[in-house]
Amino acid sequence: MQDRQRIVNAVYHSYARCRLNNTVIDDFYRYFLASSPKVAAKLKNTDLEMQKHLIDHAIRHMVLFFDNPSVITVAKMMAIAKSHAKSAMNIEPELYRLWRDAWLRALADNDPHFNPELAGQWRAVVNHTIATLIALYDECSPATRQEPDKCPNAT
Ligand code: HEM
Repeated sequence: MQDRQRIVNAVYHSYARCRLNNTVIDDFYRYFLASSPKVAAKLKNTDLEMQKHLIDHAIRHMVLFFDNPSVITVAKMMAIAKSHAKSAMNIEPELYRLWRDAWLRALADNDPHFNPELAGQWRAVVNHTIATLIALYDECSPATRQEPDKCPNAT
């Protein structure tokens, strides 16, 4: 297993290189929206210009979340998990793979130093956030299953 700090350094510099030309997030949304009619339907009423700023911010938190997150970063991730959960926007777990693949594709287009090792490092960082969002998708996740008032239909 690679040293986490090394992964964080690599993706941090990769994102800095991508941000020099400012197209990585546009490319990401182009790929993500084209990835499935379900994704396009979920985002049909979204102000994409506003969303692009929010995603830039979220990506920075995603990197911090992978390694030694602050209380602010954890709170940010919990807020994203809550808005994406079944009881809110109902972002189904299978859609996260499309998010990750669109992001890796956009990085490959925008980072001149992109290579298979860096792809693996980004994948590790994104998977860490995705695993958390999916674990909190359903209020009846293992974390809350023991609380019958929050999870009346748990089996
Ligand atoms: C790691 C993956 C993801 C991250 C980090 C992420 C992050 C965010 C953030 C920061 C926001 C704005 C604040 C909020 O509503 O919580 C947002 C909104 C949203 N996200 Fe995600 N998201 C992810 C995956 C997805 C996926 C897979 C979908 C599926 C279509 C999705 C659909 C949406 C929608 C519909 C909104 C609301 C946009 C609006 O306000 O109109 N997200 N996301």
